[in-house]
Amino acid sequence: MSHNDTPEPYAQINPLFSRPGEASVYPRYEIPQESALPETAYQIVHDAAALDGDARRNLATFVTTWMDDEARHLYVQTADKNMIDKDEYPSTAEIEKRCWRMLAKLWHAPDAQSSIGTSTIGSSEACMLAGLAFKRRWQNARKAAGLDASRPNLVMSSAVQVCWEKFCNYWDVEPRFVPVSEEHPVLDGAGLSDYVDENTIGVVAILGVTYTGRFEPVEAIAAALDEIEESRGISVPLHVDAASGGMVAPFLDPELGWDFRCSRVASINTSGHKYGLVYPGIGWVVWCDASLLPSDLIFKVSYLGGDMPTFALNFSRPGAQVVLQYYMFLRLGMKGYTSVQRTSREVAQFIASGVSALGGFSLLGDGSELPVVCFRRDGTNPADKNWTLYDLSDRLRMRGWLVPTYPMPQDLEDIVVQRIVVRNGLSKDLATAFLGALRDEVEFLRSLDGPMPREKPDTTVFPHL
Ligand SMILES: Cc1ncc(COP(=O)(O)O)c(C=O)c1O
Repeated sequence: MSHNDTPEPYAQINPLFSRPGEASVYPRYEIPQESALPETAYQIVHDAAALDGDARRNLATFVTTWMDDEARHLYVQTADKNMIDKDEYPSTAEIEKRCWRMLAKLWHAPDAQSSIGTSTIGSSEACMLAGLAFKRRWQNARKAAGLDASRPNLVMSSAVQVCWEKFCNYWDVEPRFVPVSEEHPVLDGAGLSDYVDENTIGVVAILGVTYTGRFEPVEAIAAALDEIEESRGISVPLHVDAASGGMVAPFLDPELGWDFRCSRVASINTSGHKYGLVYPGIGWVVWCDASLLPSDLIFKVSYLGGDMPTFALNFSRPGAQVVLQYYMFLRLGMKGYTSVQRTSREVAQFIASGVSALGGFSLLGDGSELPVVCFRRDGTNPADKNWTLYDLSDRLRMRGWLVPTYPMPQDLEDIVVQRIVVRNGLSKDLATAFLGALRDEVEFLRSLDGPMPREKPDTTVFPHL
């Protein structure tokens, strides 16, 4: 019997999951044969999603987990907009343009009118587009000079985000990783010359590093590239992966010359859904000057009406996040962003000093650049021999706090760290509660007589039937 046969009074008086004729168990890996009433399907899906961790206590992610009611309202009102339908939704297209122009100005493009940019689904897509522009420009120049253009390479720190490894893998570019070390925890220009040659399509600098929240000194990297150009005649452009820092440094470190003030910086990306303070997924990439984006990468499509240029990996994409980004720019303005990011940095530094006060930990990121705290155990407390940071993550998870533990990247992989990302919405109150939980759990682990049992609890939400 389907719900259509259900006698009306029963449907109204029976609890949701015991309505006659309604399925109470749904297949998990195939589309059910029968339809469900919207409220039943809603409840099932809602309850499944509710089994996730609590976003507010998710200290693992850089991505926005809180927006105000007006933003949510706009989100619902614009959820039906497809960003690619620019001829049909010219206002959304105009809003997109306003946003990247605002970013070009924020990042000091010498002439924001001649810069060019686009929204993307996130920084990963933005980085792919910036990398493709590097590759195509290099290929075009090599071909024009009658030189071999078959072996491009990209130079970056070994602590890059995985999107750059993907870029190299997907687009046949040799990745050249400059190893991070305890002495050089970020790419800082030292030894760069050993990695750059005539096949280098570009260098990536990171503001700030995903693992630790540290900023790479873009000006020092640019100076090293200037030196390479002077001594070896190889001119290599810089891209700044400012996935997080692009919306932090302009407000909190306005004197830091990491952006288009540095003439070697060709392009910059940021994640609107990180410190841009918009729900996922929205990213941005801006080229300082339109000439830096080869025109043969831009497609013109006419089948939606008009003659629309597009440079993107996907075709259809939500327009709502672009609208939300514009809302945030207007809503907060320079002053609001400064105040929100300053608060996040202060809360991060508050957490960093709370961690230091526990003793036995050393900080790799103290929240003074990205509002991110990254720490390792320093081996000075004998009571720390029976447990690992992975155990601490498990203990914190039992209390609802999600804090990842992971090894540092290649070359420092023996160092295991824990990272706390502070975002808008993590108040000092919540941070105090977190520090209380952290202290309790560290004390518990330090009180153990023997090793922590290693058996991992089964955290699978939907075990196979
Ligand atoms: C430095 C850096 N680049 C790129 C990315 C990828 O960003 P997205 O998640 O927006 O694709 C991240 C994400 O954490 C990042 O930290």
